[in-house]
Amino acid sequence: MLETIDKEKKILNSKIPIAVKVSPDIEDQEIHKICEVLLNNNIEVIIISNSSDSSRETLNNIQKHQKGGLSGKPIENKSTKLINKFYKILKGRVKIIGVGGVDSGRGAYEKFLAGANYIQLYTGMVFRGPNIVNMIKKELKEILVKDGVKNYTEIIGKKG
Ligand SMILES: Cc1cc2nc3c(=O)[nH]c(=O)nc-3n(C[C@H](O)[C@H](O)[C@H](O)COP(=O)(O)O)c2cc1C
Repeated sequence: MLETIDKEKKILNSKIPIAVKVSPDIEDQEIHKICEVLLNNNIEVIIISNSSDSSRETLNNIQKHQKGGLSGKPIENKSTKLINKFYKILKGRVKIIGVGGVDSGRGAYEKFLAGANYIQLYTGMVFRGPNIVNMIKKELKEILVKDGVKNYTEIIGKKG
């Protein structure tokens, strides 16, 4: 499918960036293969990650077996670790949108450190309300100023 999209983009002389979104439940051995497909087909962006179909056993809520993907805090670390794995292979050649459990400046900071170029969120807005972006920006700025960082782009992928 990505090959066809790439071909059509060339025919149309389209500059519209294509983003591919991945599940947090993928196996480590699939990561290299996915990176190869993205690079071979000129994909500009990867969104890491979607909601999860695993880890429900560790939840306390009685509704833990409700149908649908798990989002928010229970997938935060999982998606951050996955971002870092992709970043180490892609090394900036494909931009990363980090998503999964971000609801604070610290959460955004961790995603940038892992290698995200941008942040996306959904569940955080449910719990902290529509002003969450301003709150995150304020909290993130405080962390960066404390660390002597002038621009968030300086910390992308600096987790090691
Ligand atoms: C109610 C709900 C509906 C969602 N629908 C979609 C969807 O249609 N397509 C998609 O790619 N991701 C969908 N997602 C996944 C989110 O975009 C996001 O990747 C995931 O929830 C992790 O981010 P979060 O922890 O900030 O919510 C949905 C998530 C929720 C909670």
